[in-house]
Amino acid sequence: MTRQVSLTVNGRPVEAMVEPRTHLADFVRETLRLTGTHLGCEHGVCGACTVMIDGAPARSCIAWAVACDGADVRTIEGFGDDPLMQSMRDAFARHHALQCGYCTPGMLITAHDVVRRLPGADEARVREELSGNLCRCTGYAGIVEAVKSMLADPPASDAAGQVATGTAPVPSGTAPIIDIPSTAPAHRTPEAPERPSSTVAEQHPPMAPRHRPSSAQNPHPSVASRHRPSDAPAHRRSATSEQRPPAAPSAPGRGSESGPRHEVALAIAPDALWPVLQDIATVVRCLPGSSLTGPADASPLSFEMVVAIGPMRARFEGVANVTFDDPRRTGVMVGSGCDARSRSTGEGRVEFSVRPSPAGGSVLAIGLRYTLKGPLAQFSRGAVVDAVVEQLLEEFAANVAAAAAGEAVDAVPAAGGIGLALSALWKRLRRRLGGSG
Ligand code: FES
Ligand code: FES
Repeated sequence: MTRQVSLTVNGRPVEAMVEPRTHLADFVRETLRLTGTHLGCEHGVCGACTVMIDGAPARSCIAWAVACDGADVRTIEGFGDDPLMQSMRDAFARHHALQCGYCTPGMLITAHDVVRRLPGADEARVREELSGNLCRCTGYAGIVEAVKSMLADPPASDAAGQVATGTAPVPSGTAPIIDIPSTAPAHRTPEAPERPSSTVAEQHPPMAPRHRPSSAQNPHPSVASRHRPSDAPAHRRSATSEQRPPAAPSAPGRGSESGPRHEVALAIAPDALWPVLQDIATVVRCLPGSSLTGPADASPLSFEMVVAIGPMRARFEGVANVTFDDPRRTGVMVGSGCDARSRSTGEGRVEFSVRPSPAGGSVLAIGLRYTLKGPLAQFSRGAVVDAVVEQLLEEFAANVAAAAAGEAVDAVPAAGGIGLALSALWKRLRRRLGGSG
């Protein structure tokens, strides 16, 4: 079975018939013969397959081609006459930022995005932004130096933000229909071995984690937080068929049966805190990366949530139901969502409660159980994913505390930059070593 997709690749319209199982990297490589996009892990880890989708770096190995219908895709070939990329390639050569060149297309696209998006980035930020692209041979010192040199002295032609649109070879003419035989392999087919480029000019290639400062810097001095292992029984919720988005075929899932649990002591009476948690609009604003896409009094609620883990970003759209038990000051939110681009699905159950603190004030307890299925679940940095979820809870609790204290809580940017994740991992490690975290 094939489906027709229409998209723009390197500035030119493309129409093709593709199988739902074909990921974007295979599509551009095997169908469009744009082999500058490399495949390393095919699990969203190494960054070799990085391309731009609708102006943002994305991993083409975990984006389905059919999900890119209507998208604007730019591969490394599409940067052929881009002034900044031309200078970046020169900088890579000057600073010995490549050896075999296999990672270089993805690395260049990421570097290009960093320079365009973060003109004031320092070395630490550059390293953080590049941390989602792995190089197995050159080492990162030269790559970092190359990016720093471009930040220090960007090409004048790029200063106004004018970057040429790619004119790389894409099937000629307009809207070619290309039918991929149903017997086509799901993954790479043998072809002439890719020649590691010996010059940067032959190499070509983002992702931009929206970063939020770690909540290690607790903005609310009155808030003392601690974690504890959940003692709740294992639980997994099955979404109803109306709620469940289409699942990715035969993709393994990952999740948390017991779930991270977070408690925070707040210097505010339970009677004052509880109404904040019943205000759906406020609660959603407190959850990093989340927003309502429908009325706050709808049932179920419609929402979207953007989560970025370093260079990987997913936008989950879904529905959720919230129930409150006022006498006990407890509540449960159960939801499910789907990231259309990767066809990853997530289901979650958030339990929250407010109780008086022996020391005065309140204790807000939040627990999360979730399952994740599809390509994102195959992201093999499970500890990072778990740490990001844990950090989300911590940030959510801090934001609720701010709201309860009468502070304005604006829509919070998406969480999950690698720096955030590493921060969370570091805190987790310190706890295990006996520190206070
Ligand atoms: Fe490694 Fe896509 S091939 S992230
Ligand atoms: Fe980066 Fe070889 S993998 S240069």
